[in-house]
Amino acid sequence: MARNKVTVIGAGNVGATTAQRIAEAGLADVVLVDIVDGLPQGKGLDLAEAAPVVGHDAAVVGTNDYADTAGSDIIVVTSGIPRKPGMSRDDLIATNAGIVGNVVKAAAAVSPDAVLIVVTNPLDVMCHVAKDASGFPRERVLGMAGVLDSARFRTFIARELGVSVEDVHAFVLGGHGDTMVPLSRYSTVAGVPITELLPADRVKALEERTANGGAEIVALLKTGSAFYAPAASTFEMVDAILRDRKRVLPCATFLQGEFGVDGLFVGVPVVLGRKGLERVFEIELTSEERAAFDKSVDAVRELVAALPA
Ligand code: APR
Repeated sequence: MARNKVTVIGAGNVGATTAQRIAEAGLADVVLVDIVDGLPQGKGLDLAEAAPVVGHDAAVVGTNDYADTAGSDIIVVTSGIPRKPGMSRDDLIATNAGIVGNVVKAAAAVSPDAVLIVVTNPLDVMCHVAKDASGFPRERVLGMAGVLDSARFRTFIARELGVSVEDVHAFVLGGHGDTMVPLSRYSTVAGVPITELLPADRVKALEERTANGGAEIVALLKTGSAFYAPAASTFEMVDAILRDRKRVLPCATFLQGEFGVDGLFVGVPVVLGRKGLERVFEIELTSEERAAFDKSVDAVRELVAALPA
């Protein structure tokens, strides 16, 4: 059986760390692509030279040429510019739309059956750009945001309650921006909703810290944005797809009537398997949750409308 092949576009912080995780798990051969000459080649070689020590046989190569990416099973898109302190994800829109459109066109042309995972911000809008540029069906265009936002929420819940992160599950829905919707009623410790374990003001504080989680890291780093948790979250989606695990994970997904939304990428729980999106996992929302979700959907719609023609 041929080994799986994953192309990671953008050999920066998120891209290189994602490539490292995939290779070190022995999940697939990895092709790292970047516009900067030497950068993907250097990081690719460095990662390949770690293989004998780590003990895996995945091939890692770096390139500036999309011909080397042909026949990929998954294409991860991280190319673009990251946020600087004081910038919102939305400030990146024009520059990153141009970059994402170009790289997706080039990569999709030589890997017409691949599943695209978009990571570049502003996430929900870049998913639209990627879907248009590739012409792929919605099953094969997904955005990584919900896994990351939920991981942040899980971290804060676990710390607050002094329990293992492993026993904490959390859902964050909506757009990947300030209006994201941490769903506390569906966020649990060993199956018990956190709304039963914490006073309302603490729940609210954790929700707010989650929605602000990316900016918190940007403010600390000053010269870039988060990458360890984004790479780990992207890896979880790659693993779910390549190993056909049917994981239920929150992903930015092109909705066609589900959750009352049509024709827009929004973060919702989905079943991920070998074909990419296998099913949208619809859940009931209270009127309050619905209102927050609708507000987030409106924010995504406004941003998509602001895309340069
Ligand atoms: N083609 C290929 N690569 C490109 C292109 C292009 N047209 N334009 C930029 N790049 C590359 C840059 O050369 C750089 O190596 O994308 C890489 C981005 O890496 P970083 O600047 O380190 O950014 P990173 O922290 O990895 O974030 C990337 O993910 O989480 C999001 O908001 C974040 O949109 C940002 C993206």
